[in-house]
Amino acid sequence: MRLRGLYDAHVTPRLIAFACGREGIGDHRRLVVPLAEGHVFEIGCGGGFNQALYDPAKVVSLSGIDPNEKLLEQARASARAFGWDADMRYGRGEDIPFPDSRFDTVVCTYTLCSVEHPERVLRELRRILKPGGRLLFLEHGRAPDAEILRWQKRVEPFWKPLAGGCHLTWAAGASLRANGFEVEPLGQDYLGGVPRIFGWMEWGVARRRGA
Ligand SMILES: C[S@@+](CC[C@H](N)C(=O)[O-])C[C@H]1O[C@@H](n2cnc3c(N)ncnc32)[C@H](O)[C@@H]1O
Repeated sequence: MRLRGLYDAHVTPRLIAFACGREGIGDHRRLVVPLAEGHVFEIGCGGGFNQALYDPAKVVSLSGIDPNEKLLEQARASARAFGWDADMRYGRGEDIPFPDSRFDTVVCTYTLCSVEHPERVLRELRRILKPGGRLLFLEHGRAPDAEILRWQKRVEPFWKPLAGGCHLTWAAGASLRANGFEVEPLGQDYLGGVPRIFGWMEWGVARRRGA
């Protein structure tokens, strides 16, 4: 138990910072993050890797949550360096400490894969979005090719505890559709330079259904 706690506190943040700061991943972020506008909420804001890509002419304020203290502190430091009007709190997507209909944009990059209860998280993201607001997503997950998916299912049980709870088989677009969002896909592809079981990417814009 103690070893688990030490690993999560010291190794996981380094692994995440290494993986999420990679160049190819940055290219995909550029397709999504600059679309954010108004009052923006970032789920899993740890590390602050999106912050350089927000457009200061469109973003009024930047809020977020993350349950990893080390990564959260990096995000806060990054916000101070960029001069964002920021409110970044410790928290989990299953119970978001912000009021209803507060945000124009929700940004979800490489985070849905890490949550244990996507349906609860998506209900919370719907709650905090203003009517007409947009959820921008960029996620890796369930590959469309049967052979790759077979390997994802085999590797996931070993990968998950090593990588901060990251699932390989969550399907972002399908999960959003099943949980009250209309999805406008912007793209999907394998990320170059990483094994395909880790590299199936989906990105797009989702809106609250009926809003
Ligand atoms: C792979 S990292 C991605 C970080 C960042 N979103 C990015 O794009 O670089 C996943 C992040 O989700 C956070 N996370 C894990 N479980 C979460 C949960 N239940 N709710 C919110 N964030 C969570 C982790 O602490 C971590 O910062």
